[in-house]
Amino acid sequence: MTGNAKGKKILYGGDYNPEQWPEDTWEGDLKLLKKAHINILTLNVFSWGLLQPKEDEYDFTMLDKIMALVKKYDFKVFMATSTGAHPAWMPKKYPDTVRAESNGLRRKYGRRHSLCPNSSNYRKFSAALAGELAKRYAGYDNIVAWHVNNEYTGMCFCENCEKAFRIWLKDRYQTIENVNKAWNANFWSHTYHEFDEIVVPGALSEAHMRWGKMKSFFQGLSLDYSRFMSDSFLECFLAEKEAIRKYSKDVPVTTNFQGIIKQLDMHKWAKHLDVVGWDNYPGYKEEPAAVGFRHEIVYGLQDGRPFALMEQSPGVNNWDEYCRLKRPGVMRLWSYQALAHGSDTVMFFQMKRSVGSCEKFHGAVIDHCGRDDTRVFREVADLGDELENRLKGEILGARTRSDVAIIFDWENWWAAEYSAGPSSHIDYMAETVRFYKGLFKGNISVDVIGTDADFSKYKLIIAPMLYMNKNGFDEKLRNYIREGGNFVTSFFSGYVDENDNIITGGYPGKWRDFMGLWIEESDALPPEEKNFFTYKGKTYEAGFICDLLRLEGAESLAVYGRDFYKGVPVLARNRFGKGNTWHVGARADDDFYRDFLKDICMELEIRPISAAAPENLEVTVRENDNGRFIFLLNHDSNEICFESDMTGVDMLSGNQITAGKAMTIPGYGVVVLKQNR
Ligand code: GLA
Ligand code: ZN
Repeated sequence: MTGNAKGKKILYGGDYNPEQWPEDTWEGDLKLLKKAHINILTLNVFSWGLLQPKEDEYDFTMLDKIMALVKKYDFKVFMATSTGAHPAWMPKKYPDTVRAESNGLRRKYGRRHSLCPNSSNYRKFSAALAGELAKRYAGYDNIVAWHVNNEYTGMCFCENCEKAFRIWLKDRYQTIENVNKAWNANFWSHTYHEFDEIVVPGALSEAHMRWGKMKSFFQGLSLDYSRFMSDSFLECFLAEKEAIRKYSKDVPVTTNFQGIIKQLDMHKWAKHLDVVGWDNYPGYKEEPAAVGFRHEIVYGLQDGRPFALMEQSPGVNNWDEYCRLKRPGVMRLWSYQALAHGSDTVMFFQMKRSVGSCEKFHGAVIDHCGRDDTRVFREVADLGDELENRLKGEILGARTRSDVAIIFDWENWWAAEYSAGPSSHIDYMAETVRFYKGLFKGNISVDVIGTDADFSKYKLIIAPMLYMNKNGFDEKLRNYIREGGNFVTSFFSGYVDENDNIITGGYPGKWRDFMGLWIEESDALPPEEKNFFTYKGKTYEAGFICDLLRLEGAESLAVYGRDFYKGVPVLARNRFGKGNTWHVGARADDDFYRDFLKDICMELEIRPISAAAPENLEVTVRENDNGRFIFLLNHDSNEICFESDMTGVDMLSGNQITAGKAMTIPGYGVVVLKQNR
């Protein structure tokens, strides 16, 4: 998805909401946005109430006018379908179109992102609107993509969802006996005799809060409900996509993911998206590696096809606890971080700050003062100029080849975090980021993959906290390792099958043979309590969950330093077939992941992109026919200076960079070093 075929451009722009403004202000806005080098506008995200004032009446007057004007000013359009917020008449007449909360209470009209995904009325009306829009605007050649709905999110617990869930279950399990077996239903007398005895697992049923996290008393059911909800929203998306396709045959259709959204199995969704798009809103305290990891998840969804950064804030996020300003240079830095990880677009929410309601203090290109000399406007304009005139379209389509992959899986995410024990604070994403950060510090390029990816491309696969061993996964992994693959895993991995039932015989279940060990017990330590271990002469902290390993062929690399399990292995390595496996049995401090993964990479001849770049500099690489592009991102406010081991031209400054010579990157600075291939 790029600007246009000849003279391809990075798409630069974002949400513009003319429906919130008098018509006589539009032209002035567009002129200002031109000055900022904005070349694409996302239109029509939340206009359903205007577009369809009554059930049997559409009114496209406003949209026709703005479409004519943006064409006149030569903007591309990311055309939204407006179905993320209902028109007020709809829930009034069709209460089923809005969702019911976990406590069973049906919502009233209001807010947004409130749809019930199994309301046949909602599906009918949303698909009809998408079709009407496609019919009317398919002829506009400046529409580069369709943005369906907006940030699908949440869950519904209404009676329509309950009925649809029973059908979904019949399809998955055929008989009630199979459901009982899958859910280990004799626990607490949950034995079902008819499908219609099954109810949604909301707060009136299995859901409850424990230590601030949503948990379930009956996890097989809740896990399936998570799967079902993700599928239900996907069906809503597909209904709109199908309606668009009747009229708009080739223009990519997608939606904008609300970050790395836990409720939607993004791997499953990605198969149905023409391009993956996501919204990136790092909190002000967020670590660069955590954000880099999220970009990599998105990049991996379509096997390394470039993605679209569909939203980020040009300034503050108004929903933050403290709306801390992005420091000068940070918006630019984070925009390049997206490009560095595989985005082909840089897009914002929003072009202009609204005057009313809950987003009036959210960052925007045009502030309430309406001027083009604010700091934020200048930064947006400067970046637009740089993308257009320095980077040009050269990096478009460029990809990254990595020797290391980290597995990140949604069904595992759901199951691991529903689990009661070994700790209520299981956080799959955070645990995985620890490993990513270790590699990030070592400037090692990483792909993030799903469990069904092709493993043979990688020298090393890391699966932190992969609690769920889906059917056939252990066999796939075993073959990979036997043939010379290398595998690292951590505590709370390999425990259950895809229905969340324990694989008996000793943890990690079916992985025991290639891991060469089993785990007899796991101690969950509160944050103030720590154990320790010594690996290669250096002492590291061990905490959170501490596995007590029993080796059956694996070699111990480190043992615990205190408590009743002093001397028991915490870190082990096994040789299996032509490959190797490592088990990290406790959560260690950040330095451990860096040091340990560096050792493995050295042994496997996995080289860093730059061996000289210091660890607080983020380094990634993308390649295409135009060249090899090394992105160096300084996330620190202080300048970084080091002796370069890379030669090339910095596309942004035009400076020559030479290996063996000093290279300086200012605080929050970026270098895009181009090397010819
Ligand atoms: C989301 C939505 C936008 C806007 C922003 C504000 O990403 O898609 O409509 O509300 O949040 O941060
Ligand atoms: Zn519902």
